[in-house]
Amino acid sequence: NVDQRCQPGSHTELFRAGHSAADNDGQQVHVYPSSAFPLHVLERSKHELIQEGSLVVIFESFDNLSFVYAKKGDVYHNKNGDFYHDDFIDKLRFGSKLRARNHQGYGFVFLLRPTSELWARSLPHRTQIVYELDSSTVIFQLNLKPNMVVLESGTGSGAMSTAIMRTIAPYGMLHTYEFNGMRAEAARVEFERNKISHLVTVHHRDVCGKECADDGGFDVGGQAADAIFLDLPEPWLAVPHAAFAIKPNCRLCSYSPCVEQAQRCIAALSECGFHSIKTIEVRLRENYVDEVELEMPPTNRVVRVKKDECKLVDEEEYDRTIQRNDRIFRKQMMGARSNKIYQLCPRLRQKKKLTRKIIL
Ligand SMILES: C[S@@+](CC[C@H](N)C(=O)[O-])C[C@H]1O[C@@H](n2cnc3c(N)ncnc32)[C@H](O)[C@@H]1O
Repeated sequence: NVDQRCQPGSHTELFRAGHSAADNDGQQVHVYPSSAFPLHVLERSKHELIQEGSLVVIFESFDNLSFVYAKKGDVYHNKNGDFYHDDFIDKLRFGSKLRARNHQGYGFVFLLRPTSELWARSLPHRTQIVYELDSSTVIFQLNLKPNMVVLESGTGSGAMSTAIMRTIAPYGMLHTYEFNGMRAEAARVEFERNKISHLVTVHHRDVCGKECADDGGFDVGGQAADAIFLDLPEPWLAVPHAAFAIKPNCRLCSYSPCVEQAQRCIAALSECGFHSIKTIEVRLRENYVDEVELEMPPTNRVVRVKKDECKLVDEEEYDRTIQRNDRIFRKQMMGARSNKIYQLCPRLRQKKKLTRKIIL
């Protein structure tokens, strides 16, 4: 119940105002205030009518999704027909089926409420992205929780950023670093348009400091992050900076496409004091099960005529029949996309007693 949670003096209200509190060891910690936050990121009420400016995921077919920002007078065209925004703005709810005005209304699309998974499948790709199979594992392994401070590099197309933001909402902060100026700016504009910019700060910065040795790293100070996620071609160069920025006993995950990169990264992590390093490869084989009509099994192989007396019939014909009949129907489902397979989730060795904590 939203109203109850926002009552003065409630847990939520204290976060909103910012306050000091004692941590488990009796030390005073400050919980920083934030501007207004929605309770959900990219997810609003199921019953909400689609409004002008809303981000709407257009479901055309199982493997074909796109998106629009609802705008009066605009028309979305695809092979199924012409879809007028005026036909759904302030009229239809998310999840509705919209029919084309042309083709006698035979063509249709579904208008979906955006989630970070649907967004990853429909967003404009500027780079390779992290899909839900991997992002869910990373988020789980990083122990991400609401209100955490997380560092990420690179931003790329912002798919992983959106998944992280959903987990750390409503009061967390993601600092995402991208050294490509156009990508950083595009991500900033997109986060603003998707109404999640209050959960993220986009930094245009080279975290590896390859160009200039002094200039790398995350500009948030020491021991500032509850978790760090790296999706970089040379993550080992960012590891020393990450070791400085992460809180003791918090986790870092580096996401790499090949084991050689993982090995170099592990070496750098060990050198910088990380421990409990593990490498994970995530694979999902999801089966689509359907009903099919199988041919009759062969009956002409061995016929038992009497006890201990068997008649063998044409072995070759039997093998052919078996192959023809061996029709187990299995199709891999969509949504099991994964670009990269090695993940490392180490923690920084505890160096001293914790002095700061985020109170959840
Ligand atoms: C594979 S993409 C990240 C995709 C992102 N995780 C997503 O899900 O959309 C890698 C990004 O890292 C950026 N990058 C590479 N080296 C970097 C560095 N040293 N500092 C900051 N960004 C870097 C690239 O420009 C690229 O956009």
